[in-house]
Amino acid sequence: MTKVYVWSLFTRLFHILLIVGIGATFIIAEVEDLLHYHAIIGYMLGSLLIFRVIWGFMDVKFSNFRDFNFSIIDLIDYLSTLFGNKKEYIGHNPASSWAIAAMIGLGLASVISGVVVYGTQEGMGILSFLNSSLFKEMNFFEDLHEFFANAFMVVIFMHIAGVLIDRVFHKSQALNSIINGYKTGNTTSLKLTIFQKIFGVVWIILPIFIFAYLLLHPSNILIADANKPVNYKVEHELFAKECISCHTLYPPYLLPKESWVKMMDNLENHFGDDASLDEADKNSIQEYLVKNAADSSTKEAAFKILNSIKDKDVIEITKTPYWEQRHSSIDEAAFKNKAIASKSNCKACHKNIEQGLLNDKDIKIPKLT
Ligand code: HEC
Ligand code: HEC
Repeated sequence: MTKVYVWSLFTRLFHILLIVGIGATFIIAEVEDLLHYHAIIGYMLGSLLIFRVIWGFMDVKFSNFRDFNFSIIDLIDYLSTLFGNKKEYIGHNPASSWAIAAMIGLGLASVISGVVVYGTQEGMGILSFLNSSLFKEMNFFEDLHEFFANAFMVVIFMHIAGVLIDRVFHKSQALNSIINGYKTGNTTSLKLTIFQKIFGVVWIILPIFIFAYLLLHPSNILIADANKPVNYKVEHELFAKECISCHTLYPPYLLPKESWVKMMDNLENHFGDDASLDEADKNSIQEYLVKNAADSSTKEAAFKILNSIKDKDVIEITKTPYWEQRHSSIDEAAFKNKAIASKSNCKACHKNIEQGLLNDKDIKIPKLT
C-alpha cells in the first residue's frame, strides 16, 4: 500500500467552489430582492459544472467518466455492505459515481431551467426575449426549476450522508482525500499533462471571473433587465397627472380591464374620495387603462394578479389574492407605520413602480419610524 494522489488541486478547488456556491444560492433563493445574486451565482455554478463535464472526458485518472463505476450489481453490493465489511475504492465507489452523475445532471438542469424562469417570468437575462411568447408558462418553468433544485439538494444530502457513514463505520479516506488529495492504495498516482493543467486553471479561474464580472456589470446580457422604464407622462399625460395627485401612480397592468372600467365608471365615489373628471378626460384615461390592462401584459405581476382574481369582482390591487399572498409576510403594523402609511402606498417599498417597474431587486421596506 502506498500513498496515491487521487484528486488534483483543480478537482478539490472545484469541489469547494461548488459547496460555497450551492450553499449561498440556496439561502438567497428564499429572499426576493436577492434574486439578482441568485442568478449570478447560478451562472458561476453552471460554468463550473460544464467544465467538470469536459474534465470527465479528458482522460484524467479517477475523474474520467470511464473510470466511474456505474455497475448496478456493484452498487447493490456496496449499499448492502454500507454498515458492514465493505470494499474500499480508490476512485469513485459505485454510490458516489451515481451521485456525482446525478448531481452534475441536476445541477445543470437547475441552472438551465433557472435561466428560463429568469427570462419568461422576470423578463431578465439572456432569455428575456422569451417573456413575450412564453409568459403563460412561467409557473410551469418555476415549478420545474424548483423540482430540479430540490432533487439536486436531496442527492447532495445523500452524498454527504454516504461520506459520513463511510467515515464513521469504515474510517474511509474519502473525506480527507477531497481536502488533501491523497488516499492509500495499490495503484499509481494521478499525473496531469500540461494541457490538463492549463485546462484546470481555466476551469477554476473562469467561473470566478464570470461571478465577479456579472457582479460589476449588471447590464451584461446574461443578467440584463429587459423591463424598460415607462414614462407615463409621455405615454398619457393626463393619466400621469391626474391619477398621481392623491396616491402612487399605479401601472395599468396591475388590474384587468373590467376592474378599470368599473372603477372609472364610479370616480365620484372613489374609495371615499371624489376623483371625478369630465366625460372626455375620463374616457381618454379609461381607454388608456383598458388598452394596457393586465389582460394584455406579459409581466409576472400582471399574469399572476389576473390568474388570482379569476371571476372575483375586485377593483383594488391590494385586495387581489396574489397581492395579499405576496405581502402576507409583512406585518400589518408596518403598513400603518408613518413611513408607509397605507398598503396602497406602493412606492414606499417599490421605488420605481411609477415607471412601471416592479423588479424583485428594487423591493425595499423603508426604515420604520
Ligand atoms: C382625489 C384623490 C384621488 C384621485 C384623483 C385618484 N384617486 Fe385613486 N384612490 C384614492 C384613495 C383615497 C384611494 C384609497 C386607497 C388608499 O388608502 O390610499 C384610492 C385607491 C385607488 C386604487 C386602489 C389601490 C389599492 O389599494 O389597491 C386604484 C387602483 C386607484 N385609486 C386608481 C386611480 C386612478 C386610475 C386614478 C386616476 C383616474 C385615481 N385613482 C385618482 C384617491 C384618489
Ligand atoms: C411595506 C412595503 C410594501 C408596500 C407598501 C407594497 N409592497 Fe409589494 N412587496 C413588498 C415586499 C417586501 C415584497 C416581496 C415579498 C416576498 O418576499 O415575496 C413585495 C412583492 C410585491 C410583488 C411581487 C413581486 C413579483 O415578483 O411579482 C408585487 C407585484 C407587488 N409587491 C406589488 C405591490 C403593489 C402594486 C403595491 C401597492 C398597491 C405594493 N406592492 C405595496 C413590499 C411592499
